[in-house]
Amino acid sequence: MSKINMIHHINIQISDRQRTREWYESVLGAEFLDRGPALNERQLQLRIGTGEIHTSDTQEIIEVPRVHFAIEVGDWDAMLAHLDSLGVHHSRTAGGAFGPNVGGSDPGQGQREDTNEHYTYISDPDRNLIELVYHPLGLESSQGEELGLVNDEENVRWVQRSGFVEDAYKSQPVQST
Ligand SMILES: [Fe+2]
Repeated sequence: MSKINMIHHINIQISDRQRTREWYESVLGAEFLDRGPALNERQLQLRIGTGEIHTSDTQEIIEVPRVHFAIEVGDWDAMLAHLDSLGVHHSRTAGGAFGPNVGGSDPGQGQREDTNEHYTYISDPDRNLIELVYHPLGLESSQGEELGLVNDEENVRWVQRSGFVEDAYKSQPVQST
């Protein structure tokens, strides 16, 4: 079998696409992935860091306790300040979903023993639980060499077929308003 390279995307349940898009853009700096009108209609997709968030529309969100995804943050203090400035609650125990005796005593964030990983939990408007993590000791290869994350100012993205989005809009009938 082939080696697996990475997790490409996670898929979350959402009840309001616009609300989800605005929340992920403003809180986590996500970027709308324009796939052209037909594919945009099929699904809201966002780029976040080097990964993607895809969505499933439903008016009946099924909450499963403690199920979450985690994202690595570049500047921990700046992110917590950003959350505070937006009034986004962040919790070391995910509001009591996780035990209180791990990660220190700060209700707003914790630290794990092995990697000194910093962590906290937030919830999106549909109560999808998101863990924010930060690894101050960094990332290393199997040979113990220090590695940087794949990143650039605009961030990486999967290459789309040339002209695909433009052509998709051209083929769309003109909407009367
Ligand atoms: Fe986790």
